[in-house]
Amino acid sequence: MNVIDVIVTKRDRARLSDEQIDWVVDAYTRGSVADEQMAALAMAILLNGMDAGEIARWTQAMIDSGEVLELGDVGRPLVDKHSTGGVGDKITLPLAPLVAACGAAVPQLSGRGLGHTGGTLDKLEAIPGWRASLSTEEIAAQLADVGAVICATTPTLAPADRKLYALRDVTGTVESIPLIASSIMSKKIAEGTGGLVLDVKFGSGAFMKTPERARELGETMVAIGAAHGLATTALLTDMSVPLGRAVGNALEVEESVEVLRGGGPADIVELTVALAREMLALAGIEDVDPAQVLASGKAHAVWERMIAAQGGDPGAPMPVAGHVEELVADRSGVLTRMDAYAVGVAAWRLGAGRARKEDAVQAAAGVRLLVDIGDEVEAGQPLLELHTDTPDAVAGARAALDGGVVVSDGPAVRPALLSETIR
Ligand code: URA
Repeated sequence: MNVIDVIVTKRDRARLSDEQIDWVVDAYTRGSVADEQMAALAMAILLNGMDAGEIARWTQAMIDSGEVLELGDVGRPLVDKHSTGGVGDKITLPLAPLVAACGAAVPQLSGRGLGHTGGTLDKLEAIPGWRASLSTEEIAAQLADVGAVICATTPTLAPADRKLYALRDVTGTVESIPLIASSIMSKKIAEGTGGLVLDVKFGSGAFMKTPERARELGETMVAIGAAHGLATTALLTDMSVPLGRAVGNALEVEESVEVLRGGGPADIVELTVALAREMLALAGIEDVDPAQVLASGKAHAVWERMIAAQGGDPGAPMPVAGHVEELVADRSGVLTRMDAYAVGVAAWRLGAGRARKEDAVQAAAGVRLLVDIGDEVEAGQPLLELHTDTPDAVAGARAALDGGVVVSDGPAVRPALLSETIR
């Protein structure tokens, strides 16, 4: 097979054959197709698309590039969740222990943040002692014992995706629905979960800026799940406003613990419970109400065991930033805009995120939201707190927030969080 033929096939808007897909994914993973050739093919796919059959085959080829996790029988039904990423999206932290407290097992293999969206592992690493890397045996043992694991993906899981995603990141080819859908689903299918709930976000803080694009991504992923025998449900959710009141690693852990203790912001509770309901339905657990379990404190008990099982101290004080400044209202009125992308970039610049994969993140950096859309505010009233260990970063964060946080005459209503469900 010749890689140029494969590139030209897609450049000329034809369908890639199963043989072409299997060959090119395998050859790229082994290094016999060069980065520039795969970049050309990724761009052709971005521009000309793939049909459902090509996407299913591409996903299978990425799964076959590595090993499927053999978790064995952990004594409970396995079910997982994946979010396409957002600002203040710490939902995995309360959700995994909640669903475990309801009787399922959650193998949540997660990633780190890049750009303005945070990564689950970065958040949990703010907890003193917590360890992200586990062996397959440790994952299986923790699932059987505690019911929930949040850890790094193992190196043998879909290695083609790891290589291709890094290439797409630097070649302007991330925003292709077939490539995003196959990337996410290959990792989830290889992880061996029995059911999957997708939180597909749309709005300024998300990959998909419009509900239409999010719907297309959700439908594509649900179809891949069906083609691979993985029961998959997608919720489309708003990401034009940050989730909760905390954006940044330690700040988000603290907010998650509040939710697990029965408090916390209403939007975090709403989304956590909605996703838990869908996960429990896929796991065949119909008679447990996750809202009640959350309020009962049982999920908090699972959280403590889950953190301790990975070396973390759930009772340890969280890191606190050395420098905190406020952003205040420049006039009296109503908060009409709290833009997720602006807040995400501000948190990133304060040190909560990284610009390059190898950068370190600051555990304590981030943004705390003090007001919500629709709130009346007075001139001079603090709207946000900016937390950082590097005070020089504050000017960049303030610049990012310019025009993103607006007080005007109002009125303003927070957009609905849950928009539709795709099964
Ligand atoms: N997340 C992934 O895992 N893959 C993508 O392509 C985009 C987001």
